[in-house]
Amino acid sequence: MFKLGIITISDRSSKGERPDKSGQAIRESFPASDCQVAKYEVIPDEKDIIAGRLAQWADGGEVDVIITTGGTGLGPRDVTPEATLSVIDKEVPGIAEMMRAKSFSATPYSLLSRAVAGTRKKCLIINLPGSPRAVRECLEIILPVIAHAVAVIKGEITEHIAPEAGRD
Ligand code: MTE
Repeated sequence: MFKLGIITISDRSSKGERPDKSGQAIRESFPASDCQVAKYEVIPDEKDIIAGRLAQWADGGEVDVIITTGGTGLGPRDVTPEATLSVIDKEVPGIAEMMRAKSFSATPYSLLSRAVAGTRKKCLIINLPGSPRAVRECLEIILPVIAHAVAVIKGEITEHIAPEAGRD
């Protein structure tokens, strides 16, 4: 069981002009038995605000994983990857690479998301694109590795255990 923080990054939703369906999609994608949503916020597409919130939550120790949604594309206001890169200690490129690669069959626009993932202290931070559909598609791809990643980051697993039976 890990503690999850959800940050929706959207100018419109932060002003109350659009309901936050993507944050809701994140909640619904995680089995309740796996995690507890400990923090949730909707913030505008402002690099300093995003970076500040990520650092504050990661350093506060109240969450093991932060999932953001939105602001990963090519629009003039899209700065979520830059904000995330400015606060992480280590990048985990495979998470974002696989989201883009495996989503390509659903939509070639998957290549337009610049989402990144990484760790800050003992917290795993993952960017997702902004639409509820993208949230569901991307989380389905990466869900199988999140609990294991959290355990490794927290030092609970020191040896590599292959999830597939029969592998060394
Ligand atoms: N990835 C998946 N799996 N499904 C999607 O529908 N939408 C794409 C892409 N990634 C999409 C996706 C689109 S249309 C855009 S513009 C980029 O994510 C960036 O989205 P964002 O700016 O809302 O973060």
